[in-house]
Amino acid sequence: MSTPALVARCPAKVNLVLRVLSRRLDGYHELDTIFQAVDLWDSLEIRLAKGLRMTCDSPELPTDGSNLVLRAAELLRERSGTSQGAEFHLRKLIPAQAGLGGGSSDAAGALLLCDRLWGLGTSAAELRAIAAEIGSDVPFFLDGGTARGTGRGERIEALPALRPLHLLLGFPPFGTSTAEVYKQASIRLTLPGDGVSLAILKAHKWPGDNDFAFMVNDLEPVVFEMRPALRDFRDALLGVGAKAAMLSGSGSTVYGVFGSEDDIEAAVSRLGNEHEGWRLLSSRTVAAAVHVVERGDKS
Ligand code: C5P
Repeated sequence: MSTPALVARCPAKVNLVLRVLSRRLDGYHELDTIFQAVDLWDSLEIRLAKGLRMTCDSPELPTDGSNLVLRAAELLRERSGTSQGAEFHLRKLIPAQAGLGGGSSDAAGALLLCDRLWGLGTSAAELRAIAAEIGSDVPFFLDGGTARGTGRGERIEALPALRPLHLLLGFPPFGTSTAEVYKQASIRLTLPGDGVSLAILKAHKWPGDNDFAFMVNDLEPVVFEMRPALRDFRDALLGVGAKAAMLSGSGSTVYGVFGSEDDIEAAVSRLGNEHEGWRLLSSRTVAAAVHVVERGDKS
């Protein structure tokens, strides 16, 4: 039998800027952040089925109702009143608990897939609202590219695309818990901090030939204190020629910005075997968002 399967391509993100402005009454933090989509993709496949279920090629990820893919599908089913079901298969390339938004991107993919498979025609505004209910980072992935996020991070405003940047992503052999990082940040950060100033971005030649001095992550001191190996890796990236290096989101990914793929290759060989257990990936920024493609399926 040959049926075309619907597949969502779900990119990762890094935060180029992450300012934590204040702690809110609902326990979340008021943010001003710049998200940037990155050329590293999960792939989420959907088929009609009874009920809602999923499988995943990465055995350590939960595939029960706690997975954001199923939370997204359930919420859209509830809001639309449809009784249709779906079965998902998730192929994971984006590391979990890494500050790369993998789970959020997959959830945005699930919303687009369900909307299409079930023929719902959900409005963009409604999809955005549902996305924000699932998680603070989910709405960004519907727009992708380069965008500013305010509120919990869920209020998205497109920014002029940066020229493509070459990134070296470093994944340590451990993840970080977003909730735990923000809890520590609340205690330690001197709030309120500064927001993203478009004037400052422009002073750093945004979106042209940036000097990257605009890059800042207020969670970095907190996370570096919890995990000093991350600071060491950031310093190592700067030592092997990164124009800038920073923690993404609440970690645990630390990434460097380089001038070219050749510079990344040279940096990787200079880093050598000193950072045991770290996985390195050469990537680049992209202007893409989560999107659905049809794939011929031979099963
Ligand atoms: O929104 P999301 O479920 O992805 O957030 C995970 C956790 O991160 C929240 O439960 C909260 O503890 C923390 N968080 C926060 N402020 C934000 C975003 C997340 O405190 N703006």
